[in-house]
Order: sequence, then structure tokens, then C-alpha cells
Amino acid sequence: MKHVISPLDLSVEELDHILSLAEDMLQNPKKYSECCHGKKLATLFYEPSTRTRLSFEAAMLNLGGSVLGFSSADSSSAAKGESVADTIRVVSSYADICAMRHPKEGAPLVASMYSTIPVINAGDGGHNHPTQTLTDLLTIKILKGHLDHLKIGFCGDLKFGRTVHSLINAMVRYEGSNFTLISPVELQIPTYLKEEVLDQKQIPYKEVSVLEDVLSELDILYMTRVQKERFFNEEDYIRLKDSFILTSKKMELARPDMLVLHPLPRVNEIATEVDSDPRAVYFKQAQFGVYVRMALIVTLLQINV
Ligand code: CP
Repeated sequence: MKHVISPLDLSVEELDHILSLAEDMLQNPKKYSECCHGKKLATLFYEPSTRTRLSFEAAMLNLGGSVLGFSSADSSSAAKGESVADTIRVVSSYADICAMRHPKEGAPLVASMYSTIPVINAGDGGHNHPTQTLTDLLTIKILKGHLDHLKIGFCGDLKFGRTVHSLINAMVRYEGSNFTLISPVELQIPTYLKEEVLDQKQIPYKEVSVLEDVLSELDILYMTRVQKERFFNEEDYIRLKDSFILTSKKMELARPDMLVLHPLPRVNEIATEVDSDPRAVYFKQAQFGVYVRMALIVTLLQINV
């Protein structure tokens, strides 16, 4: 049995398989509409979510399966002090597969140690968000045509942004990846990512603090929101929250084929005027999230399609 806690739990070959399957599911949804008949997905969300939870649920329903779960810690027995280990032991007897979001880094990993069903990390604290990474990879593959030799700019909260950490971990496995890390000094990517991933694999990257200086160089701009919920200090959040705002004026500096991705939710970091720019693909990206989750569920349940 396989769990997906980090994007690195999937080999490049497994990733390629899931992305190809997701593309086929996007093109031929009817072909897959009954392949999870009789199977149940549990969504255990200890932290708020719109896209991840609902796209997981839509994915299972699209496959003919059923869903059960909770959408906040307050509405589960976690509020009475139940541990993640005990919860997953019980849920293992109610469902066939589980997606878990938790504010504590490592909680889905703990769950996987006590689970008898596949556990998918749906976001753990500031750590990882592998199914967002699958969504991002599918978006890039479909809209750019390839995943190698891309210059990606990550902009915003690179310290707490788990989607950034996961996507960097995944993209370093593709040849020719080159990163531009755009953030205030206080929100730079964690040192472990620089030392253990970028430096160790000799991936070219630079850190800058002015978006306009680098926009013209990028194939992809990955915008992120400043993660209010991870700050210890409200004053720091208020000072940093509007560090970067992408506007139509700034988009004039970018290449005609540069794509703007964002895991969403957006707060202020992309002006709504940018939404009508054909290079702004973040709503399409959210839509693709359903198909990668369908492909992941079918793969982890080992259903022959
Ligand atoms: N991208 C993402 O994880 O969105 P939600 O927090 O709405 O699930």
C-alpha cells in the first residue's frame, strides 16, 4: 500500500503516469465514471480548504465513488482531544482511501503509520502539498507542453508557502529547471530547501526582492499569498502582506507566453484586472486539480483502467 505524503513519494515515472492518466480523464471523463463504484474517500480536514477538499470530493464522485469526512477540527472528535493516530485507525474501517489536511507539519505522515488505507497529504502546515504540486505540473504540462528547461519565478511568501516547497521538490527532478525566488528577506525559502535540495542538486537559482526586475526572464510566474495563519506576529503580517501585487501594467514587462499560476486562494497579490489576461491560468489550474486527484485516487486504489 502506498501513501502520498510528499511529492517525492512518487517517482518521476509514477508522476508521468498520473499526469497522462489525468489528461485522458480530462478528455474522456465518461470512460472513468464508474471505476470507483463502491469505494469511499474520507476527507479529514483539520484546516480550512475550498479547492483541495471539494476537488477531492468532486474527483471521487466523478469516478462513481462516495465521500465522507469532516471539514474542520471543531466538527470532529479532535475537539475532544482525539489523536490523529486514533482517528485514522477508526477511519481505516470506514473508507478505502483518505485525504488529510492538518495545520501541523508531519500529521499526515503520522496518520500513514497507523493507517490500513492509503493516506494522501492534502497540505500539512508550511511543509508540503503534493496534490497541489500534481495540479501545478498538469497545468504546466498541458499549457506549456513540457516540464523540462523552464525558468520559474516563485513570488510572495516562500517561507510558509507549502505549495512552493512541494513544487520546487518536484521540479528539480526535471532537466534544466531554473528558479528565481522573489520575496522579502523575511519570507525567503527555508534554509533546508536551499542547502539540501537546490545546492545539493546544483540547481541554478537566484533570490531577488523586486518582481519587475525579473518578470521579462520568466516562462512561469508562480504567485503566492502571504500566509496570515502561519505568522506569530500580526504586525509582521500587516507589514509584509502587500509586498507584491501583480498588475496589468507589470504584466506588460512579461513575455507573451509567460504563464501566471497561483494555487489560490488569492488575497491582494494579483489585481483582478489580470484575470482577463490570457496568460493568467490560475482558475484553469484549479479546474485541472480535479483530474489529477481522480488519477491519484485510481492509482493508489490500484484500479485497472
Ligand atoms: N490551493 C489550495 O490548497 O486551496 P484550498 O486551501 O482552498 O484547498
